[in-house]
Amino acid sequence: MKKYTCAPLPFQGQKRTFLKHFKEALKDFSNDATYVDLFGGSGLLSRTVKDIYPNATVIYNDYDNYSKRLAAIPQTNELLSLIRKLLHKVPNKSRVPLFDKYRIVKEVKSHFDKYNYVDFITLSASLLFSGKYATSMEQLEKETFYNRVRKSDIDCSSDYLEGLSVVHLDYKKLYDQYKQQSNIVFLLDPPYLSTDTKSYSSNGYWRLKDYLDVLEVLSCDKYFYFTSNKSNLVELCEWFGDKFNANPFKGSTQKTVTNSVNKSSNYVDIMLYK
Ligand SMILES: C[S@@+](CC[C@H](N)C(=O)[O-])C[C@H]1O[C@@H](n2cnc3c(N)ncnc32)[C@H](O)[C@@H]1O
Repeated sequence: MKKYTCAPLPFQGQKRTFLKHFKEALKDFSNDATYVDLFGGSGLLSRTVKDIYPNATVIYNDYDNYSKRLAAIPQTNELLSLIRKLLHKVPNKSRVPLFDKYRIVKEVKSHFDKYNYVDFITLSASLLFSGKYATSMEQLEKETFYNRVRKSDIDCSSDYLEGLSVVHLDYKKLYDQYKQQSNIVFLLDPPYLSTDTKSYSSNGYWRLKDYLDVLEVLSCDKYFYFTSNKSNLVELCEWFGDKFNANPFKGSTQKTVTNSVNKSSNYVDIMLYK
């Protein structure tokens, strides 16, 4: 079976750069536990756990319906191949002339008419400025296009979800289902505070209260929690620890990875586990 070092399709916030630390830390956890990936995103953490511990039960909470995007890879490849042909004279990463943009939009519309579905996230990663996402036809049409279309087809990755139990639930409901059970490890990778969540189904409602609500889950026995220094959440919790002896991360181990955005700026991703 293929070993996945990143998710098959673009996904903002996938824990690609953390896999090395995550795999290393997993060695301290049970090989037959139930791992509940409450904020599953692309499913990369779930996939990694199942590959390392085949006897574990792994629940992948696919809140964004990533599995639908995976199932549509053949159709998405068909659309990208048409776009690639339309852009054969436009250099890689260059701005797409308006004439070509309109032809692409026409193709995307007829693709939607044919399949009643378009993977807008993959399309955004292929046509929009890095980090920009459109989640509807209207939004896509408003954007400037760049030729960022990959040169080859996306691998269909038909085994990516193999052995995972896929659910689609609000994390609180899923947590309630498992919180009383024994031998459970919760994976907690919520949308980050101060980070663009436009490409997520939840876009718009993640306020400070929602981030703090997630901390309730840390009262469980075993967890992995992911955040970044952009949110200052760990610092806030340390302050609560110092002042009120109430740091929800007390007793956890911390690992960090520094990611560079460009030559002059970077940010630190943080993983805490217990
Ligand atoms: C940082 S991403 C997770 C990334 C994932 N660990 C990966 O490696 O791909 C956060 C995810 O939480 C999802 N989410 C937002 N609100 C949620 C909720 N109420 N319940 C469950 N998931 C939610 C987002 O849509 C997004 O997929």
